[in-house]
Amino acid sequence: MAKHQSFFILFITFVAIFLVETYESKKIEGNLAAQGWINARATFYGDMGGGGTMQGACGYGDLFKQGYGLETTALSTALFNKGSTCGACFQIMCVNAPKACHPGQVITVTATNLCPPNFTKTKNVWCNPPQQHFDLTMPMFIKIAEQQAGVVPVVYRRVTCQKKGGLKFEIKGNSNWILLLVFNVGGVGDVVNVKIKGSKTGWLPMKRNWGQNWQASVQLAGQTLSFQVQTSDGKWVQSDNVAPANWQFGQTFEAKNNF
Ligand SMILES: *[C@@H]1O[C@H](CO)[C@@H](O)[C@H](O)[C@H]1NC(C)=O
Repeated sequence: MAKHQSFFILFITFVAIFLVETYESKKIEGNLAAQGWINARATFYGDMGGGGTMQGACGYGDLFKQGYGLETTALSTALFNKGSTCGACFQIMCVNAPKACHPGQVITVTATNLCPPNFTKTKNVWCNPPQQHFDLTMPMFIKIAEQQAGVVPVVYRRVTCQKKGGLKFEIKGNSNWILLLVFNVGGVGDVVNVKIKGSKTGWLPMKRNWGQNWQASVQLAGQTLSFQVQTSDGKWVQSDNVAPANWQFGQTFEAKNNF
C-alpha cells in the first residue's frame, strides 16, 4: 500500500513538473512578442575570422579597426532601408528549432552590411524583400545555433548600442568635396543627419552618399572642423573642434562625446 502511494505521489509530481514547464515555455513565447521581439531568420557569411564581412555596404571598411569586430550582421533589403539602418544594434536569439538552436544564447550585433537580394533565385531567397533577415558573421551564428543548420528562425529587437569612447569621423574626399564616415555611434546607432562646420563657416548640411558616408561639396582645408550628428530617434549630438586645422584626408578623429 505504502509503495503504491509513493509511486502515485512520484507520478503526480512528474505530471505537475511537465505542466509547469509547458506552461512556462508557452508563457515565454507569448512574452517574447510582448517584450518587442520580432520574428526573422538568420544565416551566416564569411569565415571564423570575419573574412568576407569587411568593406560592407555601410561603408565602414575595416571592422576591427573601427571597433565593430566580429559582432556584426548584414541586413536584408527590408531591414537595411537603403543604408539608413547602418549602425543600428540588434539582439538576436534562435527560436523554434530545438535541434539547431542554442537555448538561452542572445547575441548583440551592429548592422554593417547589406545582404543583397537575388531575384533570379526561386529557393532560399532569404534576403529578398519583404523578408526580415540577418546574415550574421560565422562566430555570431554559431553562438546562437548549430553551424550545420545553415538557416534558423530567430527573434530580434533593437537595442541601445554600447560603444567605447566618442563618435568617430573619418575624413575622405578631395579639396572640393568632403566624404565623411561616421562610426562608433552609441544610442540607437543609426545616423540620419550630419552637419559640418569649419572654423570660418556656419553649419553646413551633409547628404548621405552611401551607408554611413556623408558628403558635402565644400573646401574646408586649414579649418578646425566641428560636427553635428542626428540619430533616428531625433537626438542630436554636437562635437566641437574634433579635427584640428591641419587635418588631412584619410585621417580619423574621435569626438569627446557620444550618444
Ligand atoms: C543569384 O541566384 C542565381 C541562381 O541560384 C545564381 O546563379 C547567381 O549566382 C546568384 N547571384 C548572385 C549575385 O549571388
